[in-house]
Amino acid sequence: MDKLTGKTVLITGGSSGIGLASAKLFLEHGARLAITGRDPDGLARAREELGSETLIIRSDAGNLAEIAALMQQVESHFKRLDVLFVNAGVATAAPIELVSETQFDDIMGINFKGVFFTIQKALPLFGANASIIVTTSITNQLGSPNFSVYGASKAALRSLVRSLALELVGRGIRINAISPGPIATPIFDRFGLPPDMAQEIKSGIEQKSPSKRFGSPQEVAKVALFLASEDSAYVVGEEIVVDGGMSLL
Ligand SMILES: NC(=O)c1ccc[n+]([C@@H]2O[C@H](COP(=O)([O-])OP(=O)(O)OC[C@H]3O[C@@H](n4cnc5c(N)ncnc54)[C@H](OP(=O)(O)O)[C@@H]3O)[C@@H](O)[C@H]2O)c1
Repeated sequence: MDKLTGKTVLITGGSSGIGLASAKLFLEHGARLAITGRDPDGLARAREELGSETLIIRSDAGNLAEIAALMQQVESHFKRLDVLFVNAGVATAAPIELVSETQFDDIMGINFKGVFFTIQKALPLFGANASIIVTTSITNQLGSPNFSVYGASKAALRSLVRSLALELVGRGIRINAISPGPIATPIFDRFGLPPDMAQEIKSGIEQKSPSKRFGSPQEVAKVALFLASEDSAYVVGEEIVVDGGMSLL
């Protein structure tokens, strides 16, 4: 339980779901931790779960000024960063005719542009042997009706991880991605769909999945721990799929 002892870690979107489960696991492994989110109630709940040693920062992952301020806070608290888990993301569903420019910009701004600039603004903080992990999604390769913008935002991340892997590896910075399939987190309640429709989607996914169930955030967190730690020292530019076999169909 000491894979991250002495390491400083920032998890964006660490107040819920995959990010929160990873935060807990990383703490168990000795990390010094900072997390972000937007919703004050979610951040307050995260503080209760993660304890007073964790730096909890309200920061909008799609706002460049807030990203810059975030990095200043992390630097003044930790001096340097060893692991950056760029995990904050949003998913809203809509058929193409109903996607507004605002919705398009919101998804791309948080899921792609925000990730790009979070990595850019974190670069000066990295010490030797740093690890960046980006949360993508299996929708970046599958066709996902009504999630076209979301899938495209995650496909952009897949490309970004490959390019930056080569750009950064010479500086001692590894970057990899985790590509989750259906994971039981609050994100399914945030699709903007009526509850019965959201439930219908969930049941359909369970039936379709080769594993006949959703994954747990803890199952994704274990893969994040692998990518954060020295166990993955020679893994560069990879995207690890955690989906119970869903994307093989
Ligand atoms: N669950 C799945 O099935 C699944 C599958 C594939 C990929 N993913 C990806 O996994 C990542 C985590 O999702 P999750 O399932 O754990 O969902 P979640 O429980 O809804 O958590 C999302 C986290 O991101 C934060 N966040 C969202 N927008 C933000 C913003 N603009 N600024 C700061 N924080 C923001 C949320 O904080 P607030 O609540 O405060 O906004 C929350 O902490 C996302 O990138 C998602 O696309 C999830």
